Amino acid sequence: MQLQLCTWPDVERYLTHSSGVIIPVGSTEQHGPTGVIGTDAICAEQICLAAADGYDDMLLAPTLAISPAQFNLGFPGTISLRAATFMQVVTDTVESLARSGFTHFYFLNGHGANLAAVRSALHDLHQTRSIKPENTMPELKFRMRSWWDFAKTDALRKNLYGDREGMHATPSEISITQSALGVERSAQSSIDYQKLHTSFYQNHAQDSHDDARAHRSRFPDGHVGSDPSLSSAEHGQQLLDTAAGELRADWLDFLDENN
Ligand code: NI
Repeated sequence: MQLQLCTWPDVERYLTHSSGVIIPVGSTEQHGPTGVIGTDAICAEQICLAAADGYDDMLLAPTLAISPAQFNLGFPGTISLRAATFMQVVTDTVESLARSGFTHFYFLNGHGANLAAVRSALHDLHQTRSIKPENTMPELKFRMRSWWDFAKTDALRKNLYGDREGMHATPSEISITQSALGVERSAQSSIDYQKLHTSFYQNHAQDSHDDARAHRSRFPDGHVGSDPSLSSAEHGQQLLDTAAGELRADWLDFLDENN
């Protein structure tokens, strides 16, 4: 079920049997010479849609598609929010839905640089409730996962691409968009694949990159340690199905009151 396609009585009815909502989180940023700008948002949204398909117990909020991506501002088309702005977007989205009666918020993430800001926003939402002993607001539960961290999905992308998966404009994410958009194979397949040292991955984990000028100069076509030419719609379908299955299981685990 998609919130955007529900009427308010539909939502009121849903709330009689569930107080959980899934919020896909993406970005609007360059994804190398062959990946579309909306890659992160499309991946998170499509995995959620596939996981929810056929079930009436998974409500999807609209995708938060614009988020922190300052390091890609040197590439045309990128839109970046400051971390503080994005934290406010997350906070107001949660508070609005909590006002409706939602208590369980599951974030499916598609962009490494979102993690710190979303975690900080969720920390502060708890802080607002925790700091006042007289607080009578309902308890809120949060869970956030990046789709590539699901165990089977992670094993599949490593099996398909090994160290050519890289860090940004990865063949796995581009494959998912190709599957979702019905594109068979990227037109440009001769990308200069550059292997990065393992220390680069450690030093720049979760998209801790330098400023936009330095980033573009180091990665002139936008891909970071990946080989996007390995992408295919067929791989994308496998990745999508695997991640959707793992999301569905993790969603049910999240709603289990013992967890
Ligand atoms: Ni991405």
